[in-house]
Amino acid sequence: MKKKVISICCGTGCNASGAGTLFSNLKKKLNNIKDIETEITVKNTGCHGFCEQGPVMVIKPDNIFYRQVRPEDADTIIEKSIKRNEIIEELLYEDPTTGKKIVKEEDIPFYQSQQRLLFGYNGDINPRDINDYIATGGYEALKKVFENMNQEDVIKEVKDSKLRGRGGGGFPTGKKWEAAFLTEEQDKYIICNADEGDPGCFQDRSLIEGNPHLVLEGMIIGAYAVGASKGYIYVRHEYPLAVNNFSHALKQAREYGYIGENILGSGFSFDVKITRGGGAFVCGESSALVASIEGKLGEPRDKYVRNTEQGLWGKPTVLNNVKTWASVPFIINQGAKWFTNIGTKDSTGTMVFSLTGKVNNTGLVEVPMGISLQSLVFDIGGGIKGDKKLKAVQTGGPSGGCIPENKIDIPLDYEKLTEIGSMMGSGGMIVMDESTCMVDVSKYFLNFTQEESCGKCIPCREGGRQLVEILNKITQGEGKEGDLVLIKEVSKTMQRGALCNLGRLAPNPVITTLKYFKNEYLSHIYDKHCPAGVCKDLISYSIIEEECRGCQKCIKSCPVDAISGVKKEPHSLDQEKCTKCGSCYEVCPFDAILVK
Ligand SMILES: Cc1cc2nc3c(=O)[nH]c(=O)nc-3n(C[C@H](O)[C@H](O)[C@H](O)COP(=O)(O)O)c2cc1C
Ligand code: SF4
Ligand code: SF4
Ligand code: SF4
Ligand code: FES
Repeated sequence: MKKKVISICCGTGCNASGAGTLFSNLKKKLNNIKDIETEITVKNTGCHGFCEQGPVMVIKPDNIFYRQVRPEDADTIIEKSIKRNEIIEELLYEDPTTGKKIVKEEDIPFYQSQQRLLFGYNGDINPRDINDYIATGGYEALKKVFENMNQEDVIKEVKDSKLRGRGGGGFPTGKKWEAAFLTEEQDKYIICNADEGDPGCFQDRSLIEGNPHLVLEGMIIGAYAVGASKGYIYVRHEYPLAVNNFSHALKQAREYGYIGENILGSGFSFDVKITRGGGAFVCGESSALVASIEGKLGEPRDKYVRNTEQGLWGKPTVLNNVKTWASVPFIINQGAKWFTNIGTKDSTGTMVFSLTGKVNNTGLVEVPMGISLQSLVFDIGGGIKGDKKLKAVQTGGPSGGCIPENKIDIPLDYEKLTEIGSMMGSGGMIVMDESTCMVDVSKYFLNFTQEESCGKCIPCREGGRQLVEILNKITQGEGKEGDLVLIKEVSKTMQRGALCNLGRLAPNPVITTLKYFKNEYLSHIYDKHCPAGVCKDLISYSIIEEECRGCQKCIKSCPVDAISGVKKEPHSLDQEKCTKCGSCYEVCPFDAILVK
């Protein structure tokens, strides 16, 4: 009997657009059909990465990829694709650059240049079924560890793999584990940092939602290596599906003997508790996170004593990001050497980026370290939306830097990103086109970090406030001589004097935009002009008489009745009434609205 699997993404993104109902519709309808000669399994899986096309589904073994599938498409899918092996054209993905419809998942440019390691099984397994994970080789690494490796062997393998932390600074993971292992304390802890506070990032959430056992297996191996009997996963409370799937994974892992007392007869005991974070960005910082788990105020502390010496409850603690833990089973299964063959000499393995902004294809992208930014934006991202020009790419989350278009061939590894003034961070990536104002962008990020500052130290609390104030003034046309020098001075003070990396790195967006887009700052300050036409106080809207056809679309879209005119005659715009909402500019089909 032939077998088919309909794998439906039920990650948070697809669920929000009806994947859950689609899944139950398909299940119900298939249960009622008797005349099918194929064995069909409908599988509820985690995120496939191409969320903007959601709900997405893949029919295996042919890997037919359908996108934007609605619950009411269930009948057609069964009749055509299941019973008659036909392709449903309307549900296929259309390449925005070639206009061609693509049938198979692997032929879609978004997936072609990716190397999906951590996310490789997200489309195959039901995250709530441990047997699915086991069927993909899950928990083999753990067995290998218990059968053949002592603690030093595991640490050596992770050190040899050159795995670096995927949550921020890229600290060598094996070295961190070794530090905790070497302490003489008996009680030790491990923590999985799933706080994921960077706006627009959702790779950690999607990994926990879609493949929780992968993260858990990495944690158990890490706990064994350092000698910890208790672990925590710190997940933000806005991630209910991740919490749910991880709790379920813990329950099943306990039943199967992968966590709990005397795991697989090894003599090693370990268990994991879930702690929900309140959503403060600063609580993702290692020492603030530890304080938060202890029930204290989520404030960072100075790092002269490291967590690996005195962390949670004053005991040696290893804290790693979700993707760091998830990389571990691959390293153990396939060896450090195999892992170092992926990526570059000093940045090994893969990295997952949340690709967002003005690109054609947005979503979660997993690539080997060292791939060029160009390839990521143009091959995987499909280039810039609406034939506009690329202006810059912001990497590393709110404390990252903006990389200008002329440096787009930069390889994405830890060193190169830092050299250029940005950073890897947790994998945030925002693509900006020519209509973006770089002063406005740095104001946005500074605003975010300033609002999220815990206020414990002066350089961050006051420095952040000062920077936001100066940027506000510049974008309002009140910038003055000396502002740029002041920005640099305040930034330097924050970089040198702030207690934690929130304050130390917060100036990155303003420093990089000043370095690469200084002319835009000068325009705002001296010409009182926003070249991108974004800063409201520095622009005005008017109608180009020769271009206006009197179609009246702008009249209907204007919320304050600032436009008047008779049909088929050039219209006029009342500057006094205009609130600069930009709505007329968006709707005018003849480019007759001028922004100056
Ligand atoms: C303000 C701030 C927020 C952070 N948020 C996160 C986060 O959400 N997730 C994360 O893994 N690391 C975050 N980090 C980095 C952590 O402090 C820590 O370096 C990391 O979790 C260590 O794990 P890794 O070695 O696997 O990267 C943050 C750091 C700062 C300063
Ligand atoms: S740098 Fe900012 S977030 Fe960090 S401790 Fe100081 S005030 Fe708090
Ligand atoms: S939408 Fe454009 S063309 Fe139409 S009336 Fe307004 S300005 Fe003129
Ligand atoms: S920018 Fe907004 S408020 Fe001004 S004229 Fe156009 S639609 Fe009206
Ligand atoms: S949530 Fe469905 S593809 Fe990401």
